[in-house]
Amino acid sequence: MKQKKLYLLCCIFLLLFQVSCSKKTTEKVIIVPEIKIGLTVYRKDDTFINMIVANIQEEGKEAEQQKNIKITMNIMDAKGSQTMQNEHIDKLIEQGCDVLCVNLVDRTVAATIIDKAKAANIPVIFFNREPVKEDLERWDKVYYVGAEASESGKLEGQIVIEQYHKNHAIDKNGDGKLQYVVLEGEQGHQDALLRTEYAVKTITEAGIQMDKLAGDTANWLRSQAETKMNQWLQIYDDKIELILCNNDDMALGAIDAYENIEKELPVVVGIDGTALAIEAMAQGKLAGTVKNDAEKQAELIFKLGYHLAMGEDVTKNMYLLREKYIFAQYSIVRLEEMTKEDEYKK
Ligand code: GAL
Ligand code: CA
Repeated sequence: MKQKKLYLLCCIFLLLFQVSCSKKTTEKVIIVPEIKIGLTVYRKDDTFINMIVANIQEEGKEAEQQKNIKITMNIMDAKGSQTMQNEHIDKLIEQGCDVLCVNLVDRTVAATIIDKAKAANIPVIFFNREPVKEDLERWDKVYYVGAEASESGKLEGQIVIEQYHKNHAIDKNGDGKLQYVVLEGEQGHQDALLRTEYAVKTITEAGIQMDKLAGDTANWLRSQAETKMNQWLQIYDDKIELILCNNDDMALGAIDAYENIEKELPVVVGIDGTALAIEAMAQGKLAGTVKNDAEKQAELIFKLGYHLAMGEDVTKNMYLLREKYIFAQYSIVRLEEMTKEDEYKK
């Protein structure tokens, strides 16, 4: 009897052992692959950067569902400090991320970051703030995703040309020239200089004469643009016929300055196509803006990051200019072409 009991116990034990083993094998089979994406941005409170980050997160969620994969994203905000960003990069490398997505604080210091990533064999995607060519050439696993600044300048110029042809009275003093001020982005940023240069060039090449009253940086910021505009209003007052802005937030800042003193607005143009800018266009305050495609850029950054993290050949999956660059296109925002859904997506 005792033996029988022992035999029964042994059988139960063997059965349990088998079940637990087979469980383990099935678990192994269904293990979900994981990729880790490390992301650092120059300032998370920058409107356009915030749009890109939100869209990258969306892309990650979608890919997790579609590809049955776990995606961990570690997003860090350098708050305008390159020192802090360097520390973040050290941390992300230490944590063993599979790919680094970097929106540099200072575009001139990419080399150190590339060398660190190379030593750890982690590919790097820079975005929005473009490092110089020499830096990008330091290693073949370094990429840049952005948009051509000159193109946005040309399109901004195109908006002004359209405004002028619609209504010659925007030349308020009727001297045949457009007296203008420029609110510039951060000094040294590829999007600041080139946007201004190409906007002015496009307008003058269309036969409209331009007369520059003033120009200065407001660092992409609404508040700084408002302060600058207040100063210019004191000096130039009604002489200002056009306000060219390197981005929408600064255009909104210029509008704030006019609204505070209830002054009639001249032609104000911006770039980015943010939700607030589109609202200002709908209200007739902003003459126009150029869409800086945050959704597309986020899609490209994510797709490239995904292929790199999976160790796949990116050139087989995506078109890369000189094996390094991917550019999204700009376009003029046309209210009449927008659906309600588009507006909500922003
Ligand atoms: C530009 C954008 C600006 C600002 C800047 C930050 O492309 O138009 O609004 O976000 O990037 O680097
Ligand atoms: Ca004039």
